[in-house]
This record gives sequence, C-alpha cells and structure tokens, in this order.
Amino acid sequence: MRTQIINHPLVAHKLTLLRDENTPSTTFRSLVEELVTLLAYEATREVKVEPCDIVTPVAPMTGTRMSKPRPMVVPILRAGLGMLEGMIKLVPNAEIGFLGLKRNEETLEAITYANRLPDDLTGRQCFILDPMLATGHTLMDSIDYLLERGAKDVTCICLLAAPEGVKAVEEHVGDRADVKIVFAALDEKLNEHGYIVPGLGDAGDRLYGVVD
Ligand code: URA
Repeated sequence: MRTQIINHPLVAHKLTLLRDENTPSTTFRSLVEELVTLLAYEATREVKVEPCDIVTPVAPMTGTRMSKPRPMVVPILRAGLGMLEGMIKLVPNAEIGFLGLKRNEETLEAITYANRLPDDLTGRQCFILDPMLATGHTLMDSIDYLLERGAKDVTCICLLAAPEGVKAVEEHVGDRADVKIVFAALDEKLNEHGYIVPGLGDAGDRLYGVVD
C-alpha cells in the first residue's frame, strides 16, 4: 500500500480553517469541497488516459483523453458525500457509486447500511472518498467491498488520518491490490473515543449537523 500526504501551503491553510471549532457548517462544506479538489489533483495522477486525434484551429495533433471504463468514485455515506462535489469538479465524467457505512460508537467497527455499486468492478479505477481515516474500520470494509467485486486499483482520498488507522489499513490490505491513500495531514493519534487528535471533530456532524 502507498500513502501520500499533500504538502502544499494552500492545503495547510484551508485545513487549519476546517479544523477551527468556530468555522460554521456553510464554510466547512465549502472548505471540504476546495480541499478535495486539491487532493484529487494528486490522487488522479495515475488515471488511465489514451492518445486521441483532434484538429485545433491551426493544425491536427494527437492529444490525450481519459480511457474507458470511466473511473468510479465512491463516497462513503454520510461524511464522504461532502467530498463528492470537489471530486467531480475535477473528474466530471466519473461514475459515482455509493456505500453507506456507519461506525458502532462502542466497538468502533463499521456497519454497512447501504450500497449502490455495480457488481463487477473489474478493470475500474476506484476512488473512495472518506474524510477521516481514524481506526481504519470503515476504509478496510470499503476497500474489501471493492476488491470483492474485482477492483484492483483503489485510491482513497481522506482529509485527515491517524497513524493507527494507516497502519491497520496497510496490514489489512497487504499485497492484495494496488491501494493508495492520499490525505492532507497525518495527525498525532486517536483518543479513547476513536477520534483523531487534534483532528476536526465529527466530520459528518460538522457538515450536516448532529443526528443521534
Ligand atoms: N470520524 C470523524 O468524523 N472524526 C474523527 O475524528 C474520527 C472519525
């Protein structure tokens, strides 16, 4: 498994605003969108392309276009939905599949409550959107879900990660597939409730409000 932290002053600036507890939901949502577009620029560096012939107003040339099948973007509900706009701004021709995973706050394990994805993902480049890589359970279950359907090339875009979560996902994936995680910052640790420290709190609640 490969990991990449996007070290860029604009990412650091926007992430600091995002972490601030005084940042209201509307600003938080816009910042998530902007950050994902910046992360996605790097996360899509290996997206499959092919040559194509076009004619400019001046001359014929061979250009580049994205190959088929189109990439599959998979936001993990609920918080990953807040990342979708930022991703499709950059890759508007991607297909979108949904996975609903929620963590049990006592065991910290992930529970799948919804899915809307093709049964066959053979040959598809998949991009998972999940803002917080904390214990890693949600990401491990999501990656397994895609690998079981034939995906071999999976990139996860996260805003923040905890070292414990990165290690758990790395051990879980092993050499089963080419999995890459791109994130804006690697934080210090998890607290006893499984929250990333210093983190930004509950990403879903900050995007959409508290539900339970
Ligand atoms: N999920 C969140 O939303 N925040 C954390 O810190 C950990 C998991």
